[in-house]
Amino acid sequence: MKKQVLITGGTGYIGSHTAVEFIEAGYEVLIIDNLSNSKIDSLDGIEKITGTKPEFAQFDLTDKLKLNDFFEAHPNIEAIIHFAAYKAVGESVAKPMMYYQNNLGSLMNLLEMTKKYKTKSFVFSSSCTVYGEPEELPVKENSPVQEATSPYGNTKQIAEEIIRDFMKVEQDLKSIALRYFNPVGAHESAEIGELPLGVPNNLVPFITQTAIGIRKELSVFGFDYDTPDGTCIRDYIHVVDLAKAHVIATERLLNNKNKSNYEMFNLGTGTGNSVLEVIKSFEKMSKQKLNYKLVDRRPGDVVKVYSDTEFANNELGWKTEKNLDDMMLSAWNWENNLKNK
Ligand code: UD1
Repeated sequence: MKKQVLITGGTGYIGSHTAVEFIEAGYEVLIIDNLSNSKIDSLDGIEKITGTKPEFAQFDLTDKLKLNDFFEAHPNIEAIIHFAAYKAVGESVAKPMMYYQNNLGSLMNLLEMTKKYKTKSFVFSSSCTVYGEPEELPVKENSPVQEATSPYGNTKQIAEEIIRDFMKVEQDLKSIALRYFNPVGAHESAEIGELPLGVPNNLVPFITQTAIGIRKELSVFGFDYDTPDGTCIRDYIHVVDLAKAHVIATERLLNNKNKSNYEMFNLGTGTGNSVLEVIKSFEKMSKQKLNYKLVDRRPGDVVKVYSDTEFANNELGWKTEKNLDDMMLSAWNWENNLKNK
């Protein structure tokens, strides 16, 4: 019998790519998603790629009764990979309570279920946002966590603390938090990808939407930073590389390879790229000029952040395989495919 894993937020951007990797690795995937920021169509995308449509339940994880019923009906879940959360920085500033209630309420309900239903392995979707503006680069896992600049960022920090404290008293459970740098790109089939509702906040969907004509031009936020070309530097990571790390992290827990019952890993490539470098790579791979202008800095932006990959490479046994050009080409193919749909 196939091992069952539950992916919360599994119709979303990173969740859907992770569902594909789990199915391809031989697991049975169950998905819970409230579809607040994704479409049910991604299940068809997953099926087209893998030949399997995951079992899907639409409800909100803050609904404890429904969640309990779900676990009651699925007593054999071996691992939970928890993505479901709100993730828009600006919105979180405007609606902090909504972010705390949803992101932390969901997490606490799920952790309770792990205990009640003896699901021993829990993988959490965290973010490099916990490091703020790092004092030293590249950022290691033991670099200090800095005070969050938004309620969104704070939900990631508090979530990590909740998991850490829970694992201290629940020695039968084990968890890994994965701190993502900047996930971009799409599956090479172009059947699944990022689907921002409304105007994208993030760089790459804004680039592809501009190139395809949905947006007039891209604003590059800040050109006078203390960086080689004056624009901000990030560690962009291909979403498929990122998705694969979740299978590896889950198997580390399932096979008892973990060194403690709460671990965390940075997931990045180790390479920092500027906004202008991303644009250049996009122009090369899409074979067209992008309409962009240099504008004022965006408040709250970190100047430079990229990951130290040593711990993830050596201890987790995971490495990225795709480069920035792969990320841009796949993001562009996905945008084109969306247009045709
Ligand atoms: C943001 C969040 C981060 C979150 C991540 C995923 C902030 C400060 N951080 O990361 O916490 O985990 O999204 O949703 O918001 N840029 C432009 N023009 C644009 C959009 C972006 O120049 O239209 C630039 C930004 O200034 C930045 C880079 O592109 O330098 C990447 O931005 P973005 O994709 O929004 O990601 P982060 O800000 O790194």
